[in-house]
Amino acid sequence: MPAGRRSARASHDAVLADAGAARIAWADRQMPVLRAIRERFERERPLAGLRVAVCLHITAETANLVRALLAAGAEVGLCAANPLSTQDDVAAALSAAHGAEVYGERGEDRAAYARHLERLVAGRPQILVDDGAELIVTAHAPPKPIAAQLIGATEETTTGLVRLRSMEADGALRCPVLAVNETLTERVFNDRYGTGQSVIDGILRATDLLFAGRSVVVLGYGSAGRGIAARAKGAGANVAVCEVDPVRALEARMEGYGVLHSLAAAAIGEVFITVTGAPGVLRREHFELMMDGAVLANAGHFDVEISLADLAAIAVSPPHAVLPLIDEYELADGRRLNLVTQGRVVNLAAAAGHPAAVMDMSFAAQALAVAHLARQDATDGPGVRLPPFALDHEVARLKLASLGIEIDVLSVAQERYLRSFR
Ligand code: ADE
Repeated sequence: MPAGRRSARASHDAVLADAGAARIAWADRQMPVLRAIRERFERERPLAGLRVAVCLHITAETANLVRALLAAGAEVGLCAANPLSTQDDVAAALSAAHGAEVYGERGEDRAAYARHLERLVAGRPQILVDDGAELIVTAHAPPKPIAAQLIGATEETTTGLVRLRSMEADGALRCPVLAVNETLTERVFNDRYGTGQSVIDGILRATDLLFAGRSVVVLGYGSAGRGIAARAKGAGANVAVCEVDPVRALEARMEGYGVLHSLAAAAIGEVFITVTGAPGVLRREHFELMMDGAVLANAGHFDVEISLADLAAIAVSPPHAVLPLIDEYELADGRRLNLVTQGRVVNLAAAAGHPAAVMDMSFAAQALAVAHLARQDATDGPGVRLPPFALDHEVARLKLASLGIEIDVLSVAQERYLRSFR
């Protein structure tokens, strides 16, 4: 590269890293729990000398988790959990200012994405932090599986845990995994408040649609679907829910939502949001019923919930970008279907993911879970298990303290009463 271009590139990188550093610092202001843990880790160094590989969405919030792991004495490598969610300025700042090894670029292709996972595994980490189980699965794969030598791993998502539990059932899982996703401080706040807000944020940023009075269909009423439905309703939308689980469907009905079969919903919806974890939730038979201008967005971890193959098959021409984050598919009768962020996780691909105040608790739980694994000294055998309950309470207590909230404590007599059976 000629010297002029090289220095232009270097100054572009420096500007990018400065912007990333500002974003990381801004997020840090909303992450008092993680900050308190980072400060404790700085003193106690619970990960001194350990190599930790992290596969998460590369965001300002993740950067603050990486800072906590570095402060604990770990060597940290980071790669992206999704090719479309990387904040390039944050990636630049993390490697320039904090010394983490970072692999990931927004819009990277599938080959680069897979190469980055392999690079992290080739560094022979001892602990993995994962979001979607891609890193853990890669650590089990030939030619050089390292899973059996790991101290352990943690997993951030429901989708990842479904995969890991099926590996465990098949006898294929070779390391302990802590299901951080199932801590209460993660599940309740991340899914309900984080996903609820950020998915609507992503769709609004991509489309600029008015939600008030609009017909919004939420496919999947797990904890994330509940959050999305509540926030869409709060914005004035008429919300319909589609579910396969009868109890959840009934709960949605009693919350005041319309509950419909997905084929009935296909005909009345203006905005569709998938959040089930399953493939082909919206497919040809649904597309054929949809109205002109329908918007399709996915909030699930992988881009499998809206069938891109079916969309391509029924469109009369290849999709074209009507806006930066929207591809339009035109059907033979002139109807247009609008796919947001190529069916990839909309809250991270079109917005900035869950707000930092929510990720504060999720990543505090991650940091404590990693320190817990380091203390366990690989004595736990392979298997997916919950992190200790005390971890949840510690995170919640620190969050309440940061908010200046004091809560009651049971008296000895009350405790005795509640524990007795007479
Ligand atoms: N998952 C959802 N939101 C996130 C965020 N802000 N950072 C990292 N991972 C996320």
